This record gives sequence, structure tokens and C-alpha cells, in this order.
Amino acid sequence: MFLYLDNAATSYPKPPGVIEAVRRALEGIAASPGRGAHRHGRYAAAVAAECRARVAGILGVSDAGRVVFTKNATEGLNLVLKGWLRPGDRVLYTGFEHNSVVRPLRRLVSQGVRAEQIPCTPGGGLDLPALREMLAAPARLVVLVHASNVNGALMPVAEVSELCGRSGVPVLLDAAQTAGLLPIAAEELNLGMVACSGHKGLLGPSGMGLLYVRPDLDVSPLMEGGTGSRSEVPEQPEECPDRYESGTPNLPGMAGLAEGIGYILEQGMEAIWEHEVSLALHLESELSEMPGVRVLIPEERGTGTVSFTVDGMNPADLGFILDEAFDIAVRTGLHCAPLAHQSLGTFPEGTVRVSPGFSTSSEEIESFLEALRSVLARR
Ligand SMILES: Cc1ncc(COP(=O)(O)O)c(C=O)c1O
Repeated sequence: MFLYLDNAATSYPKPPGVIEAVRRALEGIAASPGRGAHRHGRYAAAVAAECRARVAGILGVSDAGRVVFTKNATEGLNLVLKGWLRPGDRVLYTGFEHNSVVRPLRRLVSQGVRAEQIPCTPGGGLDLPALREMLAAPARLVVLVHASNVNGALMPVAEVSELCGRSGVPVLLDAAQTAGLLPIAAEELNLGMVACSGHKGLLGPSGMGLLYVRPDLDVSPLMEGGTGSRSEVPEQPEECPDRYESGTPNLPGMAGLAEGIGYILEQGMEAIWEHEVSLALHLESELSEMPGVRVLIPEERGTGTVSFTVDGMNPADLGFILDEAFDIAVRTGLHCAPLAHQSLGTFPEGTVRVSPGFSTSSEEIESFLEALRSVLARR
């Protein structure tokens, strides 16, 4: 039977209500939000508003109008980096950032932005004293991943936000791995911007991402175009979210995402987190017992994602055998985060990554461990 252990990439399966909501939106709504004052237009607008309000709740934002729909976390991260940083600006980022931060930064560096990496501790955490020193010089932005997509390590978001707040530097939080699993508390922590996926822990369909921008931060949009508002003016509206949402949005995605969040609230975010993390802790302890297996145990665990290597075996080969012989889907290699693997000492081969989801059972984890033991015994 197919065993999916790659929820850090995208969550699967989706709760049945998500699939039903997408179907209902495709079948029953003959309009896009903000485009049409007829009944279907109003219904579409209500679906979008409901989804926005639920996202605001999850992100800890009191004004849902500050929540922007994007197509994924990557778009939100690009929007902020390219809309906020200018040539000559200095930006600090951690050694755990995903390529969705590293690559736009690389482009910006070629245009005169100065990007500096915050050192890590030997245990794979963030070196806060080093950050404090780096903040002594002016900086325009600090980019922080909330939890690593490689080994689930939790980053000290409250401490970073506090340090940056003292220097007046906004923090861009990449919550791709944590939204839906951990409270984000954007306003309480005074975060500048938060970008996340809608299709991972929030259990929505693919093609959904979210961005929060604090009202005092004048971030330029990535795109201009039709917003369904102020059509008589040639300039892009200044108001959020229209400023950042040009073109027909993903209404079926919004309908599904609202249901995904509804499911999380029904089950309890903490209960889902505890379930996934308890599976991860079990995995960590069983894997650590296997000869030749090295588990990348984080200093503090933020999600249920577990990474490991096997002596003398390429992660890609192991992933291939698990897929071909056992119908088990894990992710192998660098997980679009080569920087994190450099920080953790697993570059360039990477690791085998196992990421359980809300519906993964203990029995499924046992099946995975049994499959792995049998592969390792035959080496
Ligand atoms: C930490 C992190 N940031 C950003 C992304 C990009 O997310 P998306 O695929 O929604 O663009 C991912 C996806 O795996 C991620 O794990």
C-alpha cells in the first residue's frame, strides 16, 4: 500500500472537506472575487473573505486586509525581497534558508544589495550573539526560516524579533514549514513580514500561498494589473491586499484552503503538532539504533520532519529502493536547501527526509522502519 512520508513538500492526503470545497467552487461559482456585482460575484467575494479571515487567525493578524494571497511561499518571499531591498541595502539571513530566499537574494546581490549570512552554532542552531553583533551596523532586513525543512529545527523567532526590534530592522519570517502546526503570532512578535505555503501544514490545495506585510512597511508589489477595484485609475491601488493581488485569483484554492484551516481548528493545531512530533521522536530514536545511520537531531524540534544519512549509501539510491520495492515516498537529496545542508555538514549528497502528516499512523511509521531495516540488512 502507498505510504506517503513527504508532507514537508506538500501535504497529502487532504482532508475530504478540502476536496469537496474545491469541487463546489469549480462547479458552483461562476465568478471571481471582486469581478462582478452579480450573485456569483458576491458569493466568490464571500469565499475569499472567509479564507482571508481564517488565514489572519492562523497568522495572528487582527486585520485580515493585511493578508495577501500568493501562489506559494516562494512568491511571497520574492515579493518582499524584491519589493523592499534596494541597491546598497544590507540584508542578513540564516544558514538554514531555502532556495526561495537564497536565489532571489543572489539576484539582488548582483544588483548591489549586500547579503550576509548569520553564523550557526556547532549544534546546528542560530548564533544569537553573532546576530547581535551584526545588528550593530545598519541593516534593512533580517530573513529567518521558522523551522528548517531539512530536519525540523526550530529557529528562535521571538529572540530574533526582539533583537531586530531594538535596531528597528524588520524580520521576514519564512513560515512555509510551520503555518498550521505552530502559532505564528505575527503581530504579537512584531514581525515585519510573514510568507508561507497554503498547501503544506495548512492542508489547502497546491497553488496557494500567503503573505502578511506590516502596515508601516512600504513594500513595492511584484506585479501590477487588474484588481477589480479603482478600475478608473491607471496606477496600482495603494491599499493592501489589492496592491499585491493583480489578476484573477485562485478561488478554488481559497475555498479549499479555508476548509483546510477549518479542519486544523477542529482537530486542534496543538494536537496535530503533538501527533507529528511524537512520530518524529519515535523515528529519531529507532533510526539512531540502526548501525551506520546518522540522524540530524535538531537542538529544538519545530516540526515532525526527520533527516538521516546511511554510511556508504547515497540518499537518492535509498529513496529509489523505498519507492520501487516498498511504495514508500520519502524525499532525498538537498530539499532545495543546499545552505542548510552546508550548515549541517550533509552537503552535497544531502539526506533522506521523512516527514509525517496529520493522518500518518504509528503503524505506517513501523512499516517504514521495517522496510528500511530490510534494505539495510541486505547491503
Ligand atoms: C522552508 C521553506 N521555504 C520556502 C519553501 C517554498 O514553498 P513553496 O513551494 O510553497 O513555494 C519551502 C518548500 O518546501 C520550504 O520548505
